[in-house]
Amino acid sequence: MDIHNIDTVSFDREANALVIIDQTLLPGEVRLLPLTDRDSIFEAIRYLRVRGAPAIGAAAAVGLAVLAARRAPSSLEALKEDVKEDSAFLASARPTAVNLFWALARMEKALDHDFSSVEEALEALRSEAESIIAEDVETCRRIGENGLTLLRGGMGVLTHCNAGKLATIKYGTATAPMYLALERGMKLRIYADETRPLLQGARLTAYELSAAGADVTLQCDDMAASAMAEGLIDIVITGADRIAANGDAANKIGTLGLAVLAKHYGIPFYIAAPFSTIDLATPDGSGIKIEQRDASEVTELWYARRMAPEGVKVRNPAFDVTDHSLITGIITERGVARPDYLTSLRTLAEE
Ligand code: MRU
Repeated sequence: MDIHNIDTVSFDREANALVIIDQTLLPGEVRLLPLTDRDSIFEAIRYLRVRGAPAIGAAAAVGLAVLAARRAPSSLEALKEDVKEDSAFLASARPTAVNLFWALARMEKALDHDFSSVEEALEALRSEAESIIAEDVETCRRIGENGLTLLRGGMGVLTHCNAGKLATIKYGTATAPMYLALERGMKLRIYADETRPLLQGARLTAYELSAAGADVTLQCDDMAASAMAEGLIDIVITGADRIAANGDAANKIGTLGLAVLAKHYGIPFYIAAPFSTIDLATPDGSGIKIEQRDASEVTELWYARRMAPEGVKVRNPAFDVTDHSLITGIITERGVARPDYLTSLRTLAEE
């Protein structure tokens, strides 16, 4: 199965199911997972079967539409209560990516109409979830067009984690300019950090880019500095899980280190993200909740056997916040925002 012919998240109307690619099995196996109950949808988000900010949002939106119909509410009031409850439950799956809360809020808002029947309201939920999916494809393509203006043939591009097709529906955010470059015959040398501890760079980014025929080289996270020192990297582009009003950007743990390195070596550092990742209600990065995950992800997951002493203290923050002063620009579907972000992000948001 060609991963690029399958949507990362989709809605099977006939089966009334959320369908995801189970990313925990990649790159070894491409398996579609239909999900129809609340606990398995929550589990899929929590344990990163579906992950990446926009994909989490889309999955939660479809999940909410699926669950609402399954509950077969007897009145519009009951439907709204059910949706509120399921929305709060799914929102507790992961704390950092704002797209999750954005998509759930959008679904709840879709019920703010005078419907003449429960079925009409359920249909509004279904079509809102489908719009979120369709818009994501268009948004990422535009991010790609805007990002492509920063690239030239022969450049070395470094990315971290997976802000690719597997984190969205189709093009990805950080990878969108890379896919458009490939479409247009522009040759890039792409470097993918493996991204400890969950290896999204190795399992997902290196996989999807090489499946598309891109020139991608995988490296351990601690090799980024030497790649920069050797002059292999001309630009860094990563995704984001939440961008505060002042441009501080939360992304996968390790992104901050790359931004610091890029500054040292005079390499431009860009974040690529849709407006659904920009949280103007959060003034700066200190207000972004950083997810703390289980120690076993560091000590044993993805190792053939445990690689740390029993009982050792472990830190496992899933994200870090890159200070806006380290970010050269934020590539969005509406254009590339430049400092000062407080002004540029607001101006783009109002467009
Ligand atoms: O923990 P994950 O795999 O969900 O983290 C994903 C990232 O950090 C991505 O860079 C971010 O969500 C942007 S995805 C377009």
